[in-house]
Amino acid sequence: MLAAFATDFSRDDPLSVLQVGERPEPECPSGWTTVSVRAASLNHHDLWSLRGVGLKREQLPMILGCDAAGVDEDGREVVVHSVINDPDWRGDDTLDPRRSLLSERHQGTLAERVAVPRSNLLEKPRELSFEEAACLPTAWLTAYRMLFGRGRLRPGETVLVQGASGGVATALVALGRAAGLRVWATARSEEKRRRALELGADEAFESGARLPERVDAVMETVGSATWAHSVRSLRPGGRIVISGATSGDAPPAELTRIFFLQLSVIGSTMGTREELARLMRLCVQRGIRPVIDQTLPLADARRGFERMLEAEMFGKIVFTV
Ligand SMILES: NC(=O)c1ccc[n+]([C@@H]2O[C@H](COP(=O)([O-])OP(=O)(O)OC[C@H]3O[C@@H](n4cnc5c(N)ncnc54)[C@H](OP(=O)(O)O)[C@@H]3O)[C@@H](O)[C@H]2O)c1
Repeated sequence: MLAAFATDFSRDDPLSVLQVGERPEPECPSGWTTVSVRAASLNHHDLWSLRGVGLKREQLPMILGCDAAGVDEDGREVVVHSVINDPDWRGDDTLDPRRSLLSERHQGTLAERVAVPRSNLLEKPRELSFEEAACLPTAWLTAYRMLFGRGRLRPGETVLVQGASGGVATALVALGRAAGLRVWATARSEEKRRRALELGADEAFESGARLPERVDAVMETVGSATWAHSVRSLRPGGRIVISGATSGDAPPAELTRIFFLQLSVIGSTMGTREELARLMRLCVQRGIRPVIDQTLPLADARRGFERMLEAEMFGKIVFTV
C-alpha cells in the first residue's frame, strides 16, 4: 500500500529521510481493527519523527501520521483517537506512562490503511467531511484540552495564542472565539495576522510586540522564540499552558518573574477519547470547522511536508487517499 514513512533520522534535513512509496499491509493484533484511511492530516509531530524525536532506529521504517478519518471493516465512517494506551491502563488516557501516539510505536496514519485498537475508533459525525474530521484528533484535541481542560479558561477571560498560523494555534483561536474568550494572537507575518483576525482573533500582534494590557492566560506551542514574551504578557496569577516547543525547548526560564507574579506553568498533552467526542460535538453544534490550508493526494505528501517545514501554511495540511 502507499504510505509516507521515515527511512532514517535527520535533524537538519528531515525531508531527506522522508519516502512516499510502498509499505506492507498493517498487521492487526487481537482487539485491533483496520481502517481504510480517507483523509489524514499532517502534524509537526511528523517532522519531529523525521528528526528522530520520539523514535528509535530499530523501529524504522515507520509510517508517519497521527490523525485519520476513514472507514472501518464494518463500513462505518470513523475518526481515529491517536493515543494508544496499555491495555491494562484505567483512567485519563493521557496520563498512562506507557501511552504512545500512532507512528511512535505502531505504524501511523499516512497510509492507505492503518491498524488501531477497536476502542480508539469514534463515529465520524455526518456533518464533518473526512478531511475536516482528520484535523481533529491531534492538533484540535490538544487545543481543546489546553483551553478547557488544563487551562480552565472562562468566558470573558483574555487569552494570548502564540504563533497563530499553526495547526494547534488555529484551533485555539477558533475554539477560544466560540467559547466566549477574548482572543489575542501573535504571528510573524502580516498576512498570517490578517488570517488570524478573519478566523476570529479580536486582535493580532507581531511576535514579541508589547500588548495593550496583560492577559489571563497564554497558549504556548512555539517555545524558545516566544517564551519570554509569554511570561511577560501575563497578569499576576496568570497561567501559561504549554503543549509544544517548535522553535526550541531551552529558553531562559524567567524563574524570578514566575514566582514573583505567582504565575502557573501548566503542561498539556493531546486529550482523552471523551474529550475528542466532546470536541466533535462542539464542532457540529456550533458549526466550527478546522482551517484547512491545503488538501493534497497522499502521493504528493512531500509538498505538504515542505510547506510545514517552511511554516508557510495557515492551518492544517490534509492528505487524501
Ligand atoms: N503535546 C501535544 O500533545 C502536542 C500536540 C500537538 C502539537 N504539539 C506540538 O506543538 C507544536 C505545534 O504543532 P503544530 O502541529 O500546530 O505545528 P505547526 O502547524 O507546524 O505550527 C507551528 C507554528 O509555530 C510557529 N513558529 C515556528 N517557529 C517559530 C519561530 N521561530 N518563531 C515564532 N513562531 C514560530 C509558527 O507560527 P507563525 O508563523 O504563525 O508565527 C508556526 O506556524 C509542535 O512543536 C508540536 O510538536 C504537541
